Amino acid sequence: MRGKPVDYDVDRLSIIHYPDPRLRQVCQEVTEFDDKLPALAAKMATLRRADKGVGLAAAQVGVPLRMFVLNLTGEEKDEMVFVNPVIHDPQGSKETEEGCLSVPNIHVQVRRPARCRITAQDLKGNPIELEGEDLLCRVWHHEIDHLNGILILDRMGPSDRIATRKTLKEMEATYQARVSA
Ligand code: CO
Repeated sequence: MRGKPVDYDVDRLSIIHYPDPRLRQVCQEVTEFDDKLPALAAKMATLRRADKGVGLAAAQVGVPLRMFVLNLTGEEKDEMVFVNPVIHDPQGSKETEEGCLSVPNIHVQVRRPARCRITAQDLKGNPIELEGEDLLCRVWHHEIDHLNGILILDRMGPSDRIATRKTLKEMEATYQARVSA
């Protein structure tokens, strides 16, 4: 999907929270592999680390581009960036608790494929292809959901829906109060 150019100021980015409507955007493919992209990825990695998350999609900092960062270990050498990612050959199925930096204090059971392949590009536009299982496969799916405007709240079951209702209502009220202030 291509649209109007995506403009952003890297220095002003922060993690946005439910129910910010920018989390519901379908993000555009990255077509410009310019100097701004590594700066965006570095900023996203810093914000991810500060909030102790495993992954962070550009949509979560209000930038509607198809890109996410992830780090399973927290070590600098394990920092990864996926641009224009696509899942292939999902296999199996596992339900595990998931959280999301854009939906703080909420943990819900989400069913995801157990194994898959991913193709993407790096920050220079070079192709990447990897296989992953368990947590890695789960994070790939979670982050690609963000690029399509999908949150864990859309994937939770009836009991989590009931259990999280009050917290979500409070988050909606907080957001409304802030935007109408
Ligand atoms: Co998330």
